[in-house]
Amino acid sequence: MDMDRYAVIGHPIAHSKSPRIHAAFARQTGQQLKYEALLAPLDGFVDSVTRFRTAGGRGLNVTVPFKLEAFALASRRTDRAETAGAVNTLMFDADGILGDNTDGAGLVRDLVINLQCPLAGRRVLLLGAGGAARGALLPLLQAGPSSLTLANRTASKATALVEAFTRYAAGTSFHASTFSGLAGQQFDVVINATSASLAAEAPPLPAGIYAPGALAYDMMYGSSETAYLRAAREDGVQRIADGLGMLVEQAAESFALWRGIRPQTAPVLAELRHELAAA
Ligand code: ATR
Repeated sequence: MDMDRYAVIGHPIAHSKSPRIHAAFARQTGQQLKYEALLAPLDGFVDSVTRFRTAGGRGLNVTVPFKLEAFALASRRTDRAETAGAVNTLMFDADGILGDNTDGAGLVRDLVINLQCPLAGRRVLLLGAGGAARGALLPLLQAGPSSLTLANRTASKATALVEAFTRYAAGTSFHASTFSGLAGQQFDVVINATSASLAAEAPPLPAGIYAPGALAYDMMYGSSETAYLRAAREDGVQRIADGLGMLVEQAAESFALWRGIRPQTAPVLAELRHELAAA
């Protein structure tokens, strides 16, 4: 019998960890499936998806730079994809193409379950107002923090995002800020959703914004500590975490959507962590 086929599609794609993560999930849950890495030409996303689907593909993870095209291609979308404005998971079925976004849910599961860092009733600061921040906003608000502050270098982008998401913020005090405007405030959880770490930079945060016991989280990860996490540590933060757990959790969320079964993430995360430390 032919195995059900899945893939991650992007450009570039060679270094994606998704094939290994999903192979581990399939082994662990006894699911018969094949998961590949698919390089699409920059101007050939829709063609590549169509070919994969016609050849019997059941679903795709979508990564840089195609998440907006995947959003447009989906014939129906989940609420969290709709609000994220981007799609990282496609599922093909008799009704067409379902678009989902599992990034924000993956972040929240990593924080709340893996890191045992509750969000309900706590003061959360989200740094950045680009695609990564937008994708996290609905799941973060649904986790019920007492306050959610969105701070960005370009203030107008933060203000626009807060306006767009205010209707989901019942019970949460939800505000936009500049980085300097954070002075004098304190937060329990600070999440870096800027791309500053790619340039080995950290957002310029005022001193003293971390409450005692606060967690500093970077959605990015690498073989060495990100610039943001280093800055947080130098500011006295004792609990820091990078985005490797979010990567594994968003994959598990996609796997659960496709297969109807939720894999254990801890062993897979431990294996990736071990390799990253050795890299
Ligand atoms: P992504 O999809 O990774 O979110 P993006 O949509 O291009 O990428 O957004 C990048 C985010 O990182 C933005 O919030 C950007 O701030 P601006 O809106 O002011 O451009 C933020 N960012 C990038 N480099 C930064 C830096 N060096 N310091 C602070 N913020 C930075």
